Amino acid sequence: MPKNILVLVGSPKQNGNTEILADAFIKGATKNGNNVKKLRVGKMKISGCIDCKYCFTHDDTCSQRDDMDKIYPLVDDADMIVLATPIYFFSMNAQLKAVVDRLNAGYKSGYKISKSALLAVASGGDSMFEPLIKMYELICKYLKWESVGIITVGKVENKGDIEGRNELLLAEQLGESIK
Ligand SMILES: Cc1cc2nc3c(=O)[nH]c(=O)nc-3n(C[C@H](O)[C@H](O)[C@H](O)COP(=O)(O)O)c2cc1C
Repeated sequence: MPKNILVLVGSPKQNGNTEILADAFIKGATKNGNNVKKLRVGKMKISGCIDCKYCFTHDDTCSQRDDMDKIYPLVDDADMIVLATPIYFFSMNAQLKAVVDRLNAGYKSGYKISKSALLAVASGGDSMFEPLIKMYELICKYLKWESVGIITVGKVENKGDIEGRNELLLAEQLGESIK
């Protein structure tokens, strides 16, 4: 059965390495008729969670009004979430992390999301992804997401460096595997 897949792209760069990787995944995922929505959260206005606990007593509604208002309905509809990020200081970038933190509003009642994937790029080598992968696995456990794939692409620094890399094919195949 087709899935609603929400792809969150953390990089602020349009057509940067992260978005190209995300687009490869989307190319595969749409082949099976999945309904894919991509959001470039790296350029959206999203504040960090302020731990006010308002959501706990107000039907999971966040107290803050910003671009998360556009994201929450898509999260509510999603069966799968894809976190696509450049490595910034050994982690997902702050723009994407702000979205993840803001998912605190709703996690107690639970989201429909059951599956997830991680796509990440970095200028350094494989060791750059280790802290992010650990973090991602803990997020999955906490939010009860079954991770269906992790694709990392090291040694890509400037816009377009990722073109021609084999990992793009792997991302497309991962997308195609979602049914
Ligand atoms: C603030 C900042 C921090 C970064 N930190 C790291 C890092 O810790 N390790 C690394 O390998 N690359 C790091 N990078 C490089 C990016 O991950 C890399 O250039 C990536 O390809 C950018 O992806 P994009 O084109 O999608 O924006 C950093 C870049 C920025 C701007």
